[in-house]
Amino acid sequence: MISQVENPIVEIHDLTVSYDKKPVLWDVDLSLPKGHLIGIIGPNGAGKSTLIKAVMGLIPNSSGYIKLFDQDLDKVRGRISYVPQRESVDWDFPASVIDVVLMGRYGKLGLFKRPRKADIEVAMDSLRKVDMEAFKDRQISQLSGGQQQRVFLARALAQQADLYFMDEPFAGVDAATEKTIIKLLREMTERGNTVIVVHHDLQSVPQYFDWVIMLNMRLVASGPTESTFTSEVLQETYGGKLTLLSEVGNLLKQGRFPSREQTEVKN
Ligand SMILES: Nc1ncnc2c1ncn2[C@@H]1O[C@H](COP(=O)(O)OP(=O)(O)OP(=O)(O)O)[C@@H](O)[C@H]1O
Ligand SMILES: [Mg+2]
Repeated sequence: MISQVENPIVEIHDLTVSYDKKPVLWDVDLSLPKGHLIGIIGPNGAGKSTLIKAVMGLIPNSSGYIKLFDQDLDKVRGRISYVPQRESVDWDFPASVIDVVLMGRYGKLGLFKRPRKADIEVAMDSLRKVDMEAFKDRQISQLSGGQQQRVFLARALAQQADLYFMDEPFAGVDAATEKTIIKLLREMTERGNTVIVVHHDLQSVPQYFDWVIMLNMRLVASGPTESTFTSEVLQETYGGKLTLLSEVGNLLKQGRFPSREQTEVKN
């Protein structure tokens, strides 16, 4: 249920994270392959954001260690991009759209920190990819929620990182934009980038992700979507709450998610 990979791009060993001495993530052990679109799936409060924050060094671990590209975070920070969950961002911060996207270039700028023409081009190109170039001079406080989210995605794209962590990038984004962005992320993974996305819509999981991390305070499963995103694993991850998610409940009843037995036969 927990697939180990060779030459992992992310390796998490025995990770426990606590807030005020109360653990919210227990003993997580996982390794992730390069060049995949990976979903982190689990109910509210499961520790999905906490896991990403721990990997990004934003909160301390109680125990365990994390390696990225087989190295410590400090050595590879410039190769990693992080899109925080929307609610955790101060949108009243006075900055224009293009300024926010250019922040994604700071790690790549030289000593004097003035964006060059090439940086502005990358920033504009990133805005174009999320269809926000027309808003480039608008203050971020004056955007709709979904538009703000798209600007944040553009900032991440402008970083031209190798490894991306995105915490609910589709929250508040309309369906058409979501499809466009997934296509973009897919193309990035085809070029060898690794993209790790916290995602809540269970129905689109098999279509979007080729690897899933199933989390509920501990790691329930991690592996290829086909063999990991099973009704048993979903039940274990969501417990009784799954019956409340009626659409998924229906899908499970119809047997649209492969069960573990079926997958084993197939393999
Ligand atoms: N700064 C904090 N101080 C104390 N407890 C926290 C803090 N941040 C998160 N928690 C708790 O840690 C647990 C995991 O939170 P986390 O934000 O990682 O969940 P999540 O899986 O991202 O949920 P969601 O789907 O709602 O975003 C929750 O019980 C939450 O209440
Ligand atoms: Mg979260």
